[in-house]
Amino acid sequence: MYPLRRNRRLRTNEAIRALVRETIISPNDFLVPLFVVEGKSIKDEIPSMPNYFRYSLDLLEKEVKELWNMGLKSVLLFAKVPDNLKDNKGTEASNPNGLMQRAIKTVKNACPEMLVMTDVALDPYSAYGHDGIIENGRVLNDASVNALTAMSLSHAQAGADFVAPSDMMDGRILSIREAFEQEGFVNTGIMSYSAKYASAFYGPFRDALDSAPVDLIDIPKDKKSYQMDYANRSEALIETEMDIDEGADIVMVKPGLCYLDIVRDIKNIVNVPVAVYQVSGEYAMLKAAAEKGWLNHDAVVMEQVTAIKRAGADIMASYFAKDVVRILNS
Ligand code: PBG
Repeated sequence: MYPLRRNRRLRTNEAIRALVRETIISPNDFLVPLFVVEGKSIKDEIPSMPNYFRYSLDLLEKEVKELWNMGLKSVLLFAKVPDNLKDNKGTEASNPNGLMQRAIKTVKNACPEMLVMTDVALDPYSAYGHDGIIENGRVLNDASVNALTAMSLSHAQAGADFVAPSDMMDGRILSIREAFEQEGFVNTGIMSYSAKYASAFYGPFRDALDSAPVDLIDIPKDKKSYQMDYANRSEALIETEMDIDEGADIVMVKPGLCYLDIVRDIKNIVNVPVAVYQVSGEYAMLKAAAEKGWLNHDAVVMEQVTAIKRAGADIMASYFAKDVVRILNS
């Protein structure tokens, strides 16, 4: 009597495990989210995101050079907007001299080959902390799409390689693609947050940008009228297929870990690269557990990013990108 098949033979030692390993993590897998603020010499730690910082533009320059030297070649920019520049229409979002637009130029000057992607949504610019324009207690769709299109154009004009609309308004990919074609930005790409769920895991990010929905009568308390219901699977597929039809070059699922079934479903049906955003709450959870000594930080980081890639991610936006490179090099 013996086992029909001894699967453990392929796990005997690191050499054979390395030989048969299906998922290999590399710095090329990562898109590094970066938070920028006004001011000088600011490197401000985000309280709910230990060891993650907001940078003023002078220090952003240093940071992107460091990333480039580590082999991290793509960044995703987010701007923290001063309160006095926020309004309902997100007017500041398409200011050609706004913080985001200057940040794009700063990265390109510091590191011309760095791929620059920019977040497109009104929330950091919205007096109400919503991704679109509010009227009568509702987030307007088409008016918001127009504002997001203007915002995207200003990012393209400032030199962004890709815009990444994270707002979940209907029809925004088509509108942005058409504007890019008409204005001559034929090579500017779109990474669409296609299947973006209304998630409580975005909390630390909203701390970082001070962009949470405000608590006022007639202002929606959450983003559930535009971000997807986490109980649903089918609409993730519709959203993704529509975004590809409308011109998205890359599609995204967000958050990461709790949504890997969705990642696999999408990977199985699309032929464009699939990105996954391992979001701020996922980062905060692990940092907190590691701080308490309850989890082995580096081991869990690698397990998580490998699982996300195994599920079907071609690209990962992750706050752990620098940790991963450090771990790979150690
Ligand atoms: C803006 C945006 C959010 C995130 C990325 N772009 C917040 C939100 O939708 O409320 C979340 C990223 C993270 O939590 O790391 N729309």
